[in-house]
Amino acid sequence: TYVIAEPCVDVKDRACIEECPVDCIYEGGRMLYIQPDECVDCGACEPVCPVEAIYYEDDVPEQWKPYTDTNASFFEELGSPGGASKVGALDYDPPAVAALAPQGE
Ligand code: F3S
Ligand code: F3S
Repeated sequence: TYVIAEPCVDVKDRACIEECPVDCIYEGGRMLYIQPDECVDCGACEPVCPVEAIYYEDDVPEQWKPYTDTNASFFEELGSPGGASKVGALDYDPPAVAALAPQGE
């Protein structure tokens, strides 16, 4: 799977959403998350993120390694809805993201 890491927090550019052929990038309160069971590793999302937040799971920089689990944990209750557009934006984040200080600016 691909993983969205910390640079997305409080940025949410959303350019990635339009590239994903399987609509598996879901919006949380402060960042977006890739559903690991739905991502087909096409890689189309990775180059379009202006803040380079997206990585193949094996290439996640050391300081953001926990984001692989963080992306997965976003779906603990949501499961695998099979499409982000019908789910819409959600207003919560996993605790590790919710606890971050405001990013950017
Ligand atoms: Fe976030 Fe980059 Fe997508 S900022 S919403 S991962 S384009
Ligand atoms: Fe979609 Fe990116 Fe995976 S475009 S299929 S989330 S690699």
